[in-house]
Amino acid sequence: MKTKNLLILLLTALLLIGSQLSQAQLPKETEAQKAQRLKWWTDARFGMFIHWGLYALPARQEWVKNVERMNNDQYQKYFDVFNPDMFDPHEWAKMAKAAGMKYVVLTSKHHEGFCMFDSKFTDYKVTNTPYGKDIVKEYVEAFRAEGLKVGFYYSLLDWHHPDYTIDNYHPLGQTSDTAYARLNKGRDMSKYREYIKNQVRELLTNYGEISIIWFDFSFPGKNGKGHDDWDSENLLKMARSLQPGIIVDDRLDLKDVEGGWDFVSPEQYKEAKWPEVNGKRVPWETCQTFSGSWGYYRDEYSWKSSAQLLELLIESVSKGGNLLLNVGPTARGVFDIRAQDRLKAMGEWMKFNNRSIYGCTQAPPEFTAPANTLLTYNPVTKRLYIHLLSYPMGSLTLTNMGDKIKYVQFLHDASEIKFSAGTDANKNNLNLELPIPKPPTEIPVLEVFLK
Ligand code: GLC
Repeated sequence: MKTKNLLILLLTALLLIGSQLSQAQLPKETEAQKAQRLKWWTDARFGMFIHWGLYALPARQEWVKNVERMNNDQYQKYFDVFNPDMFDPHEWAKMAKAAGMKYVVLTSKHHEGFCMFDSKFTDYKVTNTPYGKDIVKEYVEAFRAEGLKVGFYYSLLDWHHPDYTIDNYHPLGQTSDTAYARLNKGRDMSKYREYIKNQVRELLTNYGEISIIWFDFSFPGKNGKGHDDWDSENLLKMARSLQPGIIVDDRLDLKDVEGGWDFVSPEQYKEAKWPEVNGKRVPWETCQTFSGSWGYYRDEYSWKSSAQLLELLIESVSKGGNLLLNVGPTARGVFDIRAQDRLKAMGEWMKFNNRSIYGCTQAPPEFTAPANTLLTYNPVTKRLYIHLLSYPMGSLTLTNMGDKIKYVQFLHDASEIKFSAGTDANKNNLNLELPIPKPPTEIPVLEVFLK
């Protein structure tokens, strides 16, 4: 009898461990398989982020509910009047495409909890506002029609859901444990976890092929939230099973889990070098704003210039990364005129110079970038690109490259750049003869054909 009981106990334990293990497992793939899955994205290099929600109405950025410590009732007025009458997603898609962007990620729900899609699991959604239509659907169709790959941002935080427990990033965030306990009485995170799953299932089922899912974000620790709060592993497993090719960011708090993320997502800062995890270079994408805020901020004046933005793009590629550049449309449904100007200028440059961006990456170490330049490299065509950030006066010296170079031209007009070998001391240097006036392109690029 005793042995029988023991056996049953052992079997149950084994079964339990087994089921936990199978739950924890994400699809396995080799490094080469992962690189292949991400290839379209690493080739694309340039995408558009769109932060759009009710916060476009206060026009004081997407954290306004938190910053001004508004409760649901105080925030309700924005829901009641949300009606972007000028929204034309085809126009947006055309602007993104003309700027040279190859993919797009829209906030399907931001921290405020408002859903831009027709979810069955909430009433707090766009179809119940005066606008009345499923914005996510219109967005997906329009961008897809322009040939861009389509993705969703989905906020793990939710400042509206009744079961989401108040934490230190919540608009009702507290300072004492007792206050937290009082406010969180009756809130049930397990229901919220189900809610996330249900919504992500909707997003990844009802809108055709979705190429990227951008979960945002985890903040583990006291009064914070991490992978257990979101049930990240199972959420990700579901996402991958619904959309096997989908590319996923690294904000589910699964950094230590194999297959728990596809790329790292440095936000609003320039990487000093290609980011590494455990000593290995990893795919990366920096997300950046035009002016500092993600959601529309009427009174913000810290806008970057087109040249600065192009430099951001080139610099990312020069370190093997992508740029996801954010637009915060207004509550009428249009891009701020300043965003339009910059997108146009970037498009002008991309039209003639995109060969130094698409399919390019960090140059091999034997090529040294001359002062005030950034190098990119296309490993397939074996061409090197020298971006002249500050246009030199008449000549440029390439150190120690004489034996490697066959031909040089400006990229924007394919005009030959003559060169001659260095002097006795530096025979392997090359002196390039550049025209005195800067060519009519924001950042001139030299295309170097290698031997
Ligand atoms: C941050 C912010 C958020 C923004 C995101 C973009 O996590 O909370 O407002 O959406 O970064 O990367």
